[in-house]
Amino acid sequence: MKQRLLFLGPPGAGKGTQAQRLAEQQGLLHLSTGDLLRAEVAAGTPLGQEAEAVMARGELVSDALVLAIVRSRLEQQAAAGGGGWLLDGFPRNVTQADALAHLLDELGQQIEQVVLMELDDAVLIERLLARGRADDNEQVIRHRLEVYRQQTAPLIAYYQDRGLLAPVEASGTVEAIGQRILTLLG
Ligand code: AP5
Repeated sequence: MKQRLLFLGPPGAGKGTQAQRLAEQQGLLHLSTGDLLRAEVAAGTPLGQEAEAVMARGELVSDALVLAIVRSRLEQQAAAGGGGWLLDGFPRNVTQADALAHLLDELGQQIEQVVLMELDDAVLIERLLARGRADDNEQVIRHRLEVYRQQTAPLIAYYQDRGLLAPVEASGTVEAIGQRILTLLG
């Protein structure tokens, strides 16, 4: 099975849910920039203090900050002997995608597949309102969707051009979607 993966898709599409399941099943490093940033916020670190207000507004945290987090995790894994990884919520714009390509060149690694999770806005909004995270109120959710369309959605063409994109219908049960993803990673 492919072992170096990106999960792309709008907020609420189920990236985190599926990424965590797959990483556990396949023994991959699961790197969610959202989870890592929330851990920094909870710990009250300077990085967390810088990120907190930006996340609450549903905007993107600075590229430099996020890139530093991803670089340190991937370098650590490579130094410990390498292995598969699954990046969830990163990259979020073309600048981050270019920086990731550069970092992977340095590490002698390659993205093997980009899983694009697709779902209607109405279902996304319903899921996120039911979850109720700090950034899950309707106004912020709509802004996160707008940020996704403007800054992240261009990555669909970016990875399609590189022959890496695999779209997945993200409706249905967690198990059914997980099975679809496993099939396409074959
Ligand atoms: P991040 O944590 O990445 O949030 P997001 O992209 O908005 O994604 P979500 O976690 O909301 O959705 P998801 O697709 O992972 O779905 P999930 O599995 O959780 O980012 C948060 C913030 O951090 C950003 O706004 C930004 O400020 C900052 N940030 C993060 N990365 C960054 C980066 N690279 N650069 C700059 N800033 C960055 O599921 C959602 C809900 O639906 C859950 O309750 C789940 O239980 C439920 N659910 C999942 N699957 C199903 C299903 N099949 N049926 C029913 N319910 C389901």
